[in-house]
Amino acid sequence: MYTRCYDPRTRHAEFNDPRLVAVYDSECPWSHKDDFFLSVVNETPAARVLDLGCGTGRLALGISAAGHTVVGVDPAQASLEAARIKPGADRVTWIEGTSPDLPEASFDVAVMTSHVAQFFVQDGEWERTLADLKRTLVPGGRLIFDTRDPRDRGWEIWNLEDSFRRITLPDGRVVEAWTEVIDIRDGAVSFAIHYEFPDGKALLSTATLRFRPEDQVRSSLNYAGFVVEQIYGGWNRENVGAGDGELLVIASA
Ligand SMILES: C[S@@+](CC[C@H](N)C(=O)[O-])C[C@H]1O[C@@H](n2cnc3c(N)ncnc32)[C@H](O)[C@@H]1O
Repeated sequence: MYTRCYDPRTRHAEFNDPRLVAVYDSECPWSHKDDFFLSVVNETPAARVLDLGCGTGRLALGISAAGHTVVGVDPAQASLEAARIKPGADRVTWIEGTSPDLPEASFDVAVMTSHVAQFFVQDGEWERTLADLKRTLVPGGRLIFDTRDPRDRGWEIWNLEDSFRRITLPDGRVVEAWTEVIDIRDGAVSFAIHYEFPDGKALLSTATLRFRPEDQVRSSLNYAGFVVEQIYGGWNRENVGAGDGELLVIASA
């Protein structure tokens, strides 16, 4: 595997550049993954729900429409702007920020979806985030998140032609995109997503995701004071190793 340096300004452009936010939104409609999260949230009636890393708000809006009170938090202003103009957005509280901004003992449920947990690459930032989530949940409140099981080696299908896709925007333009893995080390995978717009404009977004094995996920949650209720391996609540290469975590504060 080779290493290549990219301009740091491309980091997380997928969430921060309005042109790429529109691509993300078109590429990520509601799916069975959201059904999973919503079904677990619904186990707590009329819950106060935090969506940390809410992005363009797809799940936050769905949870709100199901009768819960939702706060969506994300550091990416462009993603929040896309969320704020969607139908029903006025019933959700949107906060530009990260976990240190969360209030004390204010939520019954916290969710982090579409692998937000993997964006906390360093152990210190992951531990601080879990400590903040513990602090913002009421005692017994639930934390629900997905993180990819490293045993599935999902990054191996991200590379180049395997990841090539065409995404149709609401205005009919078709954007071509593909992912290039650029480095794998210390349990973290760095990659670039290349985008080509029909007018020839080429854009790039880079990121690094941490792949924590199940035992590290469990020990970090225990260290933060959570009790792990359940970890599933797939969206139909399969056992770990038997599902979709996921670790779908439900823990209580
Ligand atoms: C793959 S997107 C998921 C968005 C949304 N949860 C969804 O399901 O579509 C990852 C999100 O994590 C956000 N993010 C990145 N670093 C973060 C941090 N330190 N705290 C909270 N969110 C973060 C990004 O801005 C982005 O919106």
